Amino acid sequence: MASEQAVGAPPAAEELQDKKKPAVQQIDPYNVAGEVDEHGQIKAIDYDRLIQDFGVQPLTDAHLARFEQVTGKPAHRLMRRRLFFSHRDFDRILDTYEQYGTFMLYTGRGPSSGSMHLGHTVPFLFTKELQDIFDVPLVIMLTDDEKYLYTRSKNDGVQKKGAAVEDFLQFAHDNIKDIIALGFDPKKTFIYTDYEYLGGHFYWNTSEFESLVTLNQAQGAFGFGGSTNIGLIAYGAKQCVAAFPSSYPDLFGYPDYRAPDYNSQAKRRHATLSKIPTLIPCAIDQEPYFRILRDRCDRMTDPHPKTCLILSKFLTALQGPGGKMSASDANSAIFMSDTPSQIKNKINRHAFSGGRESLEEHRRLGGNPDVDVAYTYLSYFLEDDAELESLGAKYKSGEMLTGEMKSRCIAELQKFVGGFQERRAQVTDEVMREYMRPRRLEYAGNPTPTRPAAPAQEAGASNGALDGEKTGTAGKEGRLTKGERKALKVAAKKEEKKEEKLAVRPKPAAGDEKAAAEDSKGE
Ligand code: TRP
Repeated sequence: MASEQAVGAPPAAEELQDKKKPAVQQIDPYNVAGEVDEHGQIKAIDYDRLIQDFGVQPLTDAHLARFEQVTGKPAHRLMRRRLFFSHRDFDRILDTYEQYGTFMLYTGRGPSSGSMHLGHTVPFLFTKELQDIFDVPLVIMLTDDEKYLYTRSKNDGVQKKGAAVEDFLQFAHDNIKDIIALGFDPKKTFIYTDYEYLGGHFYWNTSEFESLVTLNQAQGAFGFGGSTNIGLIAYGAKQCVAAFPSSYPDLFGYPDYRAPDYNSQAKRRHATLSKIPTLIPCAIDQEPYFRILRDRCDRMTDPHPKTCLILSKFLTALQGPGGKMSASDANSAIFMSDTPSQIKNKINRHAFSGGRESLEEHRRLGGNPDVDVAYTYLSYFLEDDAELESLGAKYKSGEMLTGEMKSRCIAELQKFVGGFQERRAQVTDEVMREYMRPRRLEYAGNPTPTRPAAPAQEAGASNGALDGEKTGTAGKEGRLTKGERKALKVAAKKEEKKEEKLAVRPKPAAGDEKAAAEDSKGE
C-alpha cells in the first residue's frame, strides 16, 4: 500500500530529484518527469520504454497509410512526425468509420490555471483536425472538479486563497474560450464543465462505473494513499464514463433525465447509444484512466465497445527534454496570452540549445536538432515538411546556427499565437454558451460507408433510425444470451481479483516503478 504520507499522488518527481538519487521516469496523470541519473541530471522521456511499460501499441507507417486510405486525406503533421506516437485499437476506429460511418471523439482538459500554454493546444489542434476529417461529434470535458480536489489534496487538505470551487469553474470558462479559439465547429462540438453539467444519465453511468472500481484498483493505477481525499479517489469514474455516448443523450436527439422534468422514456438509459464507439486523442499521461475504462466497458448494464485511444508525447519545456511545459513555472512555458516580445525573449533566453559551445565548433561539428528546443517546437507547429527537414539538415551540418533556428521558431510561434489571440478576442460569453448548450449535434460521418445499416450507424449521424429504440426494436442486436452474460460475469470477477492482488502489493521503492507500472498495465 502507498505510504501514509502520500497525499493525492505518488511522490512528485521533484522530490526524488532533490535527493539526487537516480530515479526512473515517472509518467501518470499527476506526474510527468524523465529519468534522473546518478549525477542528478534529468534525461529525456523514453517513449519506447513507455510503450512497453503501459502496454500500448506504436503508431506505424501502416496506420498512417490506412488512415489516408480510409479518409482520402493526408495524415496530420503531428501524426506524420509521430508526436502522436502510440494508440490502442486505432485500427478498429478506422474500420468502424469505413464500415458504419461514425463514432464519437472525446477529449478534455484539467483547468488548473486561467491561461493555456502552447503544450495544452497540441491535443486540441489534433482533435480539431480529426473532427474536420471524419465529420463526427466531439465532446470536451473540463474537469474543474478534478483540479479542485487534486489541488486541495496536494495542499494537505487546506483550501488556499484562489483555489475554491468557484475559482476552478472560472478557470474552466477561461480555458473553454481558449479552446473555442482553436476553431472547433459549434454544430458538432459540445463543451462542458463537470460542476455545471454532471447529472442525469451521465451521473447514472458514473455511479455504475464507481461500483466497478475498488479502492485497491484506484490506488494501483494512480498511487493514491490513505490521506487522499475521497473525492479524488472517486473522480476517475467521471473521466471514464465521459467517453460513453450514452452519457450525453441530448447530443444524439434522445431525452436526458433531470429533475424537475419527468420523461418516462428517459427513465432508462438509451441502449442504442452504447453502441457508438469512441476515440480519445490525448497525451499519454492520461492513459491510466482509460486502461481502467477499457477493462470495464463490457461490464456496464449496456456494454460499450472498448474505447480507442491515440496518444501524444508532451511538448518539451523551454529548459529541454525531460520535463513538459508547466503552467506553474512561467519560464518553462509559452502562454497563449504572451505578447510577441515575450515569446521572443523566452525563446532567446530560455530555450535549451542543441548547438555547440563556440561558433567555430558549431561550424565544424554541427548541432543536434533532436535536443534543440527551438527545432522541437518547429516540429510541432511548422506545417511544411520540406522546410522542417532542411532546417534539421542545415543545423546538423553546422551551416545553420542556434540563433537562426531560434529566430525561425520565434516567427512561427508569433504567427500561431497572434492568430490565436485574434480569434480569442471574438469569443464572447454568448459564443461560449452556445458550445455548452446540451443540444442535438449535426454531423454526417463517412459519406460512403460500406455497411451503413449496422447498429453503430443507426445510433449515429442524423437519421431517423434513432427512433428505433422508441418503438422497441433498437438495442436488441448485440444483446447477449443468458449463458454469455454469466460467462462474462465470471471472467470479470476473476479479473477483478487479479487486479486487486497486484494492487495491494507493497509499493516499490523509487527506482523500481517499472513493476508498479506493470501491475496496472492494461491488455
Ligand atoms: N484529466 C485531464 C487533465 O488533467 C482532463 C481530461 C478529462 C482529459 N477527460 C479527458 C484529457 C480526456 C484527455 C482526454 O488535463
